[in-house]
Amino acid sequence: MQLSLKTVTDPAALRTGCLVLPVTEGGSMQGAAGLVDRACGLRLSKLIAAEHFTGAAGRTLIAHALPGLAAARVVLMGVGKAGALDAGGWRKSLSAALGLVRSTGTTDAVLLADGLDVKDRDQAWLLRQVGILSETSGYRYSRTLSKPEPAARLARIAVALATKPARALSAALVEGGAIGRGMNLARELGNTPPNICTPTHLADQARALARRHTRLRCRVLDEKQMFALGMHSLLSVSAGTREPARLIVLEYRGGTKDERPYALVGKGITFDSGGISLKPGAAMDEMKFDMCGAASVLGTMQALAETAPALNVVAVVAACENMPSGSATRPGDVVKSMAGITIEILNTDAEGRLILCDAITYAKRFKPRSIVDIATLTGACVVALGKHASGLFSNDDALAAELLAAGNEAHDRAWHMPVWDDYQEQLKSNFADVANIGGPSAGSVTAACFLSRFATGEKWAHLDIAGTAWEQGAAKGATGRPVGLLLRYLLAQA
Ligand code: BES
Ligand code: MN
Ligand code: ZN
Repeated sequence: MQLSLKTVTDPAALRTGCLVLPVTEGGSMQGAAGLVDRACGLRLSKLIAAEHFTGAAGRTLIAHALPGLAAARVVLMGVGKAGALDAGGWRKSLSAALGLVRSTGTTDAVLLADGLDVKDRDQAWLLRQVGILSETSGYRYSRTLSKPEPAARLARIAVALATKPARALSAALVEGGAIGRGMNLARELGNTPPNICTPTHLADQARALARRHTRLRCRVLDEKQMFALGMHSLLSVSAGTREPARLIVLEYRGGTKDERPYALVGKGITFDSGGISLKPGAAMDEMKFDMCGAASVLGTMQALAETAPALNVVAVVAACENMPSGSATRPGDVVKSMAGITIEILNTDAEGRLILCDAITYAKRFKPRSIVDIATLTGACVVALGKHASGLFSNDDALAAELLAAGNEAHDRAWHMPVWDDYQEQLKSNFADVANIGGPSAGSVTAACFLSRFATGEKWAHLDIAGTAWEQGAAKGATGRPVGLLLRYLLAQA
């Protein structure tokens, strides 16, 4: 998608396949939208009255071939009561309008954004959302469909303002586009079936990213190399499968050579059957989404490469499949992690923490400024927070505050959960330094407590995205979260 900002004095003369005009509740068209209405002999306000168009956020109306206008069609975009438009309302209005614009088959559109005001947000935020939704609204999964929908035709969106826009505004629009494409990459990887999206496939995708962007460098460790490093916790998860595990290391270099990087660590379980602690059958297909943490990390790295900020970031993705077999890990097995901490595996379905602990230990080698891991880690987090907020856990309150702020800014929100010592005793084992499960209570907290033992001496945070990474039901599919949060956090450091 080509996104641009332009200055427009006479919107009626705009030659475009589709002109998008915001209309406030009560149907009034002020400013530039009013000019367009007068240019076509008040046809738009007549249409609004005839169709009882309320202008509520999410409502739209379309008109074709209006006299006096150079645009082929006009889409009226309801934005709710004047002065009451909030962040969610703007996203809803814009999504509805973009959906209608796309359905017309037009290849270009111009959005008149004059006088638009979103509560508690600035103009840059509003334009960043245009960038994000312009990209994400066109995503359709098609990889394994024999008759895919025809490819999206909308290729150019311009945002028109009456006055010359500041540089920061076009940067926000471009940044939004990069976030949107990063989300789409994460969605595509998440949606790809687990017989195709294997650990090897994830590694190939990371290598392909590095080939496309000069600032990205990729290295992939195989099981032999991981064994040599002592990653026996990670390897215990792939013991039962024929798919070889991979540790993917993707570096973004935008800062100076010796500048310490920010580390992202992703859970990449390409299918989680539970292993010998086999999961119940219902909705087990959704465990192909258990690599969405890894996918969001790759999507964020792509967005970084496209926005090119001056900082260094290292991504460590642990990619594995969790399957039962005669060679699988048993409940009761004790393994030694790369950090030297021994782990009693009481439940082979608590595998995410087993791969993340070794990946976190590996990430320490880069002397990172912070480590943020992203994982579809616990069903308990879904019980606690549902699908709206990701769970945020950290050993550093300042880092937690930064991540919460990034989530609010990106409208990709997280909620702060405790990692108090009080919970640590639930992980006691008689046969190892730590057990991999902490009993039925506070499951998402004890999972984070387990990880915290491997993040000592580091500024570390963990995002449990089990509830936010994919939608269930009719709209089943990966969401691309939390690419928006992660990119905002990283750009704020540059
Ligand atoms: N990938 C799952 C977590 C999950 C479950 C995410 C359902 C989204 C929906 C994870 O590996 C897992 O199985 N966790 C167990 C941990 C338990 C055995 C302590 C869980 O949440 O049930
Ligand atoms: Mn599991
Ligand atoms: Zn899992």
